Amino acid sequence: MINNTGIIAMSYIIATILFILALGGLSNQETARRGNWYGITGMAIALIATVLGVVTQQYALLLAALVVGGTIGLIAARRVRMTQMPELVAILHSLVGAAAVAVGFANFMDPGRLSHYVGVELTIHDIETYLGVLIGAVTFSGSVIAFGKLSGRIGGKPLTLPARHWLNLALLIAAIWFGREFVLQSAAGGGLQPLIIMTVIALVFGIHMVMAIGGADMPVVVSMLNSYSGWAASATGFMLGNDLLIVTGALVGSSGAILSYIMCRAMNRKFIAVIAGGFGTSEGTVVATGEDQGEVMPIEAEETAALLNSAKEVMIIPGYGMAVAQAQHIVHEITQTLRDKRINVRFGIHPVAGRMPGHMNVLLAEAKVPYDIVFEMDEVNKDFPDVDVSIVIGANDIVNPSALEEPEGPIGGMPVLECWKGKTTIVLKRSMATGYAGVQNPLFFKENTRMLFGDAKDSLDAVFKAL
Ligand code: TAP
Repeated sequence: MINNTGIIAMSYIIATILFILALGGLSNQETARRGNWYGITGMAIALIATVLGVVTQQYALLLAALVVGGTIGLIAARRVRMTQMPELVAILHSLVGAAAVAVGFANFMDPGRLSHYVGVELTIHDIETYLGVLIGAVTFSGSVIAFGKLSGRIGGKPLTLPARHWLNLALLIAAIWFGREFVLQSAAGGGLQPLIIMTVIALVFGIHMVMAIGGADMPVVVSMLNSYSGWAASATGFMLGNDLLIVTGALVGSSGAILSYIMCRAMNRKFIAVIAGGFGTSEGTVVATGEDQGEVMPIEAEETAALLNSAKEVMIIPGYGMAVAQAQHIVHEITQTLRDKRINVRFGIHPVAGRMPGHMNVLLAEAKVPYDIVFEMDEVNKDFPDVDVSIVIGANDIVNPSALEEPEGPIGGMPVLECWKGKTTIVLKRSMATGYAGVQNPLFFKENTRMLFGDAKDSLDAVFKAL
C-alpha cells in the first residue's frame, strides 16, 4: 500500500488527463488508435494507483478477482465478431450497473457508516448511495434487455402496455417516496427495506423502459445506457469519496449523452420520443408488404462491372450487410481497381449505418480504405445528381426514400443518402427482405435501380473478376 496521498492524487490527475485525450483521439479515425492507447494507459495507471493506494487488505482476493475478470474480458473481446459489438457493449454496461448496485449496498451495510457520517453529511451520503443504486439498477436491467434485443434473444418489437407512461410515472413517484423513507430510516439505523424495494422498482423500470423501445431506436438506447452507466459510476465515486471515479463517470455520462443526441439528430428523432418508446408501431406500416410497388430489375455481376467501368463518379454506400458478409476487403480491392482507371470513387457513410456508431468506418479502416475518400452523409448528399453509379452494399434503411416521402411512416423524417437522384443505383442484398426498421424500401422498385442479389462478398468477388 502506498501511503503517499500525493502520489495517488497525481496518478489520478494523469489518468483523468489521459481519459480526456482518449475521448479527443477517438473523435477522428486518424487519431483513434492513439486515443485507444491513451485510454488503455490511463486505465492501467488508475487501476495500479487504486490497488496500491486504496486497498489495504485481502490482496489475494483482489488478485483472484482481477485474474478471473481479466480472463473473461480477454476471451470475450477475442471471440466477439464485429457484428456482435453492440451486444457486447450492452452487456458490459449491465456490469457497470450491477457493480454500482453492489457497491451501494455494501457501502450502506458498512458498520462504520453511522460513526463516520452524522447529520447533514449522513443525509448527503445516503442520497448518494440511493442515487447510485437507483441509476445502477436501471442501467443493469435495461442493458440486459438491450443485450437480449440486439442479440435476437428478445424480439425487436416494442412492448407498448396500455397506460405505460402512467406506469413509468407511478414507478418514478414510488422511487422518490422510498428515497425519502430511506433517508429518514437510515438516520435511525434502518433503511434496508426501502432500499431493497427501490432496487426492485428500478429493475422493473429498466426492463419496461427498454422493452418499450423498438429495434430501430436501439442504437440510441445503447448510447443512453452508456451514459447512465457513467452517471452510476460517478454516483459510486461520490459514495466512496473517489475523485477519479467521479470524473471518469462524468466523462462517460456526458459523452454518452452527447452521442445519444447526435444519433437522435441523425435519425431525426426527439430524444424524449425515443425514451418514451413505442417507435415502429404506427398501425399496419411496420411489416413490409412490397406488393403493388412495381417490379424490381435484377442485374448480373458482369453488367455491374461494365457500368462501373464506364462511370466517372462512383459512390459506395455500405450498410449492415457489408459487415455480415465481411465484404470490406473486396470493396477495397474494387475501389483500388476503379481508382487506377481514374474513376472517382467515394464512400458515403450514414451516421447510423450498421449496428453501432462508426461501424462502417471501423470496417473500412480495417480494410485500409484511404480516409480521404470516406465522407459523411451530409458531405455527399447534394452530389448524387452527378454520380453515375451508386453501389449500395447491404444497406437498406439508410437509403430508404420513404423516410422523406412518408413523414408519418416508421422511419419518417430520418435523413437518408439520396442515391436515387444519381444515374444508376445498384443494390447488393440477398433477397427482398426489409432492414432493421422492418419497412419496405421503394428504392428497390425505382426505374434507375438494379438489384444484384446474393451475398455481398460473393457478388463483389464476381464483380471484381469481371472488372
Ligand atoms: P439495414 O437497414 O439493417 O439493412 C441491412 C440489409 O443488409 C438487409 O436488408 C439485408 O438484406 C442485407 N444483408 C444482410 N446480410 C447480407 C449479406 N451477407 N450480403 C448482402 N446483403 C446482406 O442496415 P442499414 O441500412 O445499415 O441501416 C442501419 C439500421 O440499423 C437503421 O435502421 C439504424 O437505425 C439501425 N441501427 C443502427 C445502429 C447504429 S448506431 N449504426 C445500431 C442499431 C440499429 P437481405 O437479408 O435481403 O440480404
